[in-house]
Amino acid sequence: MTSSHGDQTPKLLRALAGEAFDHPPVWFMRQAGRSLPEYRELRSRAKDFIAFCHDPVMAAEATLQPMRRFPLDAAIVFADILLIPRALGQEVWFEAGEGPRLGPLPEIAALADEIEASTGRLADIGETLSRVRAELEPDRALIGFAGAPWTVATYMLEGRGSDRTRARAYAYAHPEKLDALLDVLVESTARYLVMQANSGAQALKLFESWAEGLSEDVFERIVIRPHAAIVEKVRAAGVTVPFIGFPRGAGAQVLNYAEATPVEGVALDTQATAQLGRTLQAQGKTIQGALDNLLLREGGAALDARVEQLLEQWSAGPWIFNLGHGVLPDTPIEHIARVIARVTGR
Ligand code: CP3
Repeated sequence: MTSSHGDQTPKLLRALAGEAFDHPPVWFMRQAGRSLPEYRELRSRAKDFIAFCHDPVMAAEATLQPMRRFPLDAAIVFADILLIPRALGQEVWFEAGEGPRLGPLPEIAALADEIEASTGRLADIGETLSRVRAELEPDRALIGFAGAPWTVATYMLEGRGSDRTRARAYAYAHPEKLDALLDVLVESTARYLVMQANSGAQALKLFESWAEGLSEDVFERIVIRPHAAIVEKVRAAGVTVPFIGFPRGAGAQVLNYAEATPVEGVALDTQATAQLGRTLQAQGKTIQGALDNLLLREGGAALDARVEQLLEQWSAGPWIFNLGHGVLPDTPIEHIARVIARVTGR
């Protein structure tokens, strides 16, 4: 495929439209965050993490910090997947050094009553997106996101990060209740993503961080169906921006996911084989991934070799260079810079 000279369409969007590059577009999950000293400085001035996410000036600054430091092809709005349960009326807070904590799960009917109001309670994130879009160069894309319903539900059910045994058991013990909760999340998430696209997000990513350990029928019911429903609802609202789905840990079920979910991009985790990626590309999907975040932290010759291997194995088709999971807080900045320089050729 060719494009006219001087095309300002961000490379990330061209890749999501099916274009292949010798130097694919690159961004990193958690590129804004504790690996950057300027982030830690900004973070220390916020009252707490949720207040930080709901402050458009601070959140826009956090989103742009990695864009100033590195020649990345995309920014991802600084927010969190747990803002939705909070907007629906469940208590959410972050324990310093530990992670998220949630209060008791409200009745599903009470959550459902808050769907419409929840989008307005998330207006700050729209404001962050418009601020970032106004500052970001036109050839760099802005990504909006939400947690996928099942992953968000695991936190809502368990009250914290966990091994998700209780949430998975709940899928069998209370299927109707889980389906009702997922329905609430599908509806509120679709509205939230429409608002994000209308505020400047040029691609939308669904983070299904906990897609592993599900049998094929359950995966269809609690991962594939909700993702497909969200994409369809967002499309029905007239939004045409591309979607990236990230069913992390899904293994071979990524193929079922790609076939049944109308996303343009499929983000792959660290375990993804070269063959899996090529199969998805041949099926018309743009892939994203899948460098090990531990290797990025370690650096050295092994990191260089793996980056070469990924570029070699996937650059014949459309893809976006990224990690298999987020940047770890203690990752040396030189390692991040080195990989981006190699991928961009700059
Ligand atoms: O990727 C980005 O740079 C955009 C911002 C972003 C954050 N969280 C900021 C954040 C994104 C896309 C997320 C998604 C998210 N949040 C996921 C899905 C992706 C994944 O990592 O699997 C999940 C599971 C969460 C829930 C969450 N938020 C947890 C479990 C934690 C605590 C763990 C930790 O790293 O501290 C968070 C907090 C969080 N979200 C931080 C950041 C930068 C760190 C908080 C801090 O700075 O004090």
